[in-house]
Amino acid sequence: MYDFKYENETDIRFGSNHIDAELHDAVAQFGSNVLLTYGGGSIKKSGLYDRVVKTLDGLNVTELSGIEPNPKIESVREGQKLAKENDIDVILAVGGGSVIDASKVIGSAAFYEGDPWELVLDPSKRKKIGQLPLVDILTLSATGTENNYGSVISNMETNQKLGTMGPHRPSVSFLDPELTFSVSPWQTAAGSIDIFSHLTEQYFDQGKDADVTDGLIEGIYRAVIKWAPVALKEPKNYDARANLMWASTMALNGLARLGKQNGWTVHPIEHELSAYYDITHGVGLGILTPRWMKFILNDKNLPKFVRFARNVWGITEPDDRLAAQEAIQATYNWVKSLDVPTTLPGVGIDVDDNFVVMANSAVKVGHLENAFEPLTASDVEHLFRESMTVAGFED
Ligand code: NZQ
Ligand code: ZN
Repeated sequence: MYDFKYENETDIRFGSNHIDAELHDAVAQFGSNVLLTYGGGSIKKSGLYDRVVKTLDGLNVTELSGIEPNPKIESVREGQKLAKENDIDVILAVGGGSVIDASKVIGSAAFYEGDPWELVLDPSKRKKIGQLPLVDILTLSATGTENNYGSVISNMETNQKLGTMGPHRPSVSFLDPELTFSVSPWQTAAGSIDIFSHLTEQYFDQGKDADVTDGLIEGIYRAVIKWAPVALKEPKNYDARANLMWASTMALNGLARLGKQNGWTVHPIEHELSAYYDITHGVGLGILTPRWMKFILNDKNLPKFVRFARNVWGITEPDDRLAAQEAIQATYNWVKSLDVPTTLPGVGIDVDDNFVVMANSAVKVGHLENAFEPLTASDVEHLFRESMTVAGFED
């Protein structure tokens, strides 16, 4: 097990009875000039916007709306301008990962004189400047951004979608599962696959004997596998939504990485797909993950796959290699059961024009030489090609 340091300063308020009673003070503790950020209008439709505005009564609220999925640098630039002009003390982000991610970078950009894209390209700059406190109300279970340092920002002019770490996690996160009752089947599936993928990136790791962490991951895996289909069938099932929401947080708040080496693989590959084609992150991960698993199954990695088969999927097949193969097929089946496409043409990527350039970039940006199973650009290109059809899987 590797050494680690773990600190987690986010004040988490989980459940349905916190927002109306506690939001005002949670925000006002940082000052009275508030930047309220949100997306394309789901919070207006659900009535959450009205609730929030009512609670903020007495504070000076400036709004930034229209933050898109796969948040674009333009929204961050707009937020930077508003934060400076209005002497903002605290950001209140209401939405999914995209709104919260953009808000974290706006929080840094408020202290920066240059173009915020520079903060994305070189996150070390963010460590040297301030970051506005962030309070968030999460409305979609997926990314874990509600309890981590990360943001992923896109620049469609340069076809780049890059992660950037700031110095602070959110100060307060309101996690009310009822707010996710209205999430569409597509986003529910994508969010659940994203959680599954965060677990996978951290489980399949060269760090040995991190049993506490692996056991934690296995428990979260089983919860996501169980509750995602329930949430799809019964969107207002509180326990399904609650388990997915807590799984979202627990999968990517740092606990699942402790004692490990942490070289991720499928995320940097998926970020290329989103950067070129603006597809839904979790859907891209669902397409790539089973192909990647199949590609890297070898004698060296077999023990991890066997553990995955037995402890996550409950597979009892006594032959280890067959058990591993069953687990990969089970992963494919689970993604498919969530009713999302399982091939690239299914998300509108019909031609291989960008495969080589995307593969090169994934290896470089994702440092795939340090991955659980190191990958070259031609390996990644192969994964893109394998993702064009269902060949290799019982479909
Ligand atoms: O924009 P609005 O109108 O709010 O609609 C959103 C959006 O269209 C909608 N939505 C959100 N909550 C809803 C709802 N619709 C109905 N009811 C609700 N309660 O869902 C759509 C997608 O929202 P988005 O925020 O984009 O989804 P998600 O939370 O999955 O975030 C995805 C982004 O996070 C990044 C991804 O790459 C992607 O850009 N990630 C961030 C990470 C992090 N910060 O740690 C890690 C992840 O691996 C991921 O890369
Ligand atoms: Zn993700």
